[in-house]
Amino acid sequence: MKFFIDTANLDQIREAHDLGILDGVTTNPSLMAKEGISGEEAVNAHYVKICKLVHGPVSAEVIATDYEGIIKEGKALAKLNEHIVVKVPMIKDGIKAIKYFSSQGIKTNCTLVFSAGQAILAAKAGATYLSPFIGRVDDSNWDGVQLIQEINQIYSIYQFDTQILAASIRSSLHIVKCAQSGAHVVTAPLSAIMGLLKHPLTDIGLAQFLADHAKAAEAKK
Ligand code: E4P
Repeated sequence: MKFFIDTANLDQIREAHDLGILDGVTTNPSLMAKEGISGEEAVNAHYVKICKLVHGPVSAEVIATDYEGIIKEGKALAKLNEHIVVKVPMIKDGIKAIKYFSSQGIKTNCTLVFSAGQAILAAKAGATYLSPFIGRVDDSNWDGVQLIQEINQIYSIYQFDTQILAASIRSSLHIVKCAQSGAHVVTAPLSAIMGLLKHPLTDIGLAQFLADHAKAAEAKK
């Protein structure tokens, strides 16, 4: 299973990378805006900075929603760095564009996916990654993890190459549940990734080990 971080914040990307477990990065226009990055030049320069930090797949989202616009933007993004994955929304022109990019060897991430039907279309178009938005599905009183299971079942039956990239992750438990459900990749905020480290029994056990070690050292003096 691969781990991506879901942010455009360079410090957070660096911190996850330093842990030695980071395989890639996903961004979206909201995450870029959160970092105060706007304008084509600044946005592109930021993608290049992220690619230099991580050396793994970096999803960069198109803004255009018409076929010609998506193709133009996607080609320009793909030229920025070999690690760029063009993120395309799950809309009619997006599916057509994914089919085109796939024929050109340009990697894609089909985003804003909320149903198994959408997942079938993206796989048929040749998407490299598929991003079901788990947290937003949960927010609408459906079951995001169950969606991952359904898509995994369908992709396994037909041996689709598209990788399930579980997105909109809200907790460490989400990461574990998506891993259990066959997601190939999970993209999560730094807090959810770091949360995987935590268990109270680890802290209690470590405190005990260190105390026993100190006691033994003291007794030997
Ligand atoms: C990642 O590709 C998505 O854009 C992101 O996970 C959406 O997460 P959110 O629902 O927390 O905004």
